[in-house]
Amino acid sequence: MTALLKLDYLRKSYGERRLLDLGGLAIEAGQAYVVTGGNGAGKSTLLRILAGLEHADIAGMQFQGGSPAGATARQRIVYVHQHPYLFHTSVADNIAYGLKARGIGGAQRQRLVEEAIAWAGVGSLRLVPPGKLSGGEKQRVALARAKVLAPLLYLLDEPTANLDGEGRRQTIELVQKLAHDGAGVVIACHDREIIELPGMRHFHLDGGRLIQV
Ligand SMILES: Nc1ncnc2c1ncn2[C@@H]1O[C@H](COP(=O)(O)OP(=O)(O)OP(=O)(O)O)[C@@H](O)[C@H]1O
Ligand SMILES: [Mg+2]
Repeated sequence: MTALLKLDYLRKSYGERRLLDLGGLAIEAGQAYVVTGGNGAGKSTLLRILAGLEHADIAGMQFQGGSPAGATARQRIVYVHQHPYLFHTSVADNIAYGLKARGIGGAQRQRLVEEAIAWAGVGSLRLVPPGKLSGGEKQRVALARAKVLAPLLYLLDEPTANLDGEGRRQTIELVQKLAHDGAGVVIACHDREIIELPGMRHFHLDGGRLIQV
């Protein structure tokens, strides 16, 4: 099977400090991976690099067997920030934003936004100003805003950090659904419940190396 994303090596330094020094990496479709590591180990940096948001020294990178630089590849990878920024418009507008940017309009956009709202279970939040949403609610809106773009690879940075109770449980459920629905999912986190989810592959980042646990 062709990996969704693969590379031969990835290196990242800040000045004299070598932060990441990874050998081969392959991410499969329909598989979820968790990346653990201490504070400052480079988890967020790795996700940002894979999302194309930060530069690194990379060899042999392919997305679906082709160039990762093309517009199609870039459009099929989404990065979800630990503290997602939401525009102060409405929940639906936030979810529609990426579709607007891609020139998808009218009834099609509305239908896709409604599907994403239902998927993330955020219909009851429609009238809540985005700035007033709880951490867990914001995270679910951010996941809906990513999902609506139908990406093949999700890079999730600590999706449950600072969440507990219902918000955390609902977010974990959504994260699980993404891989079940066929996407590749890479999650940076310390959350034991996510690490121990059935089928999860666990990598640990230490001293710049990614070790399978
Ligand atoms: N522009 C930069 N210049 C120099 N050092 C940087 C820069 N950006 C990040 N770093 C350093 O790189 C290291 C990795 O940061 P990163 O945010 O990837 O860690 P992390 O594993 O996500 O940590 P946490 O668990 O705290 O989220 C940190 O020590 C950080 O200070
Ligand atoms: Mg981080």
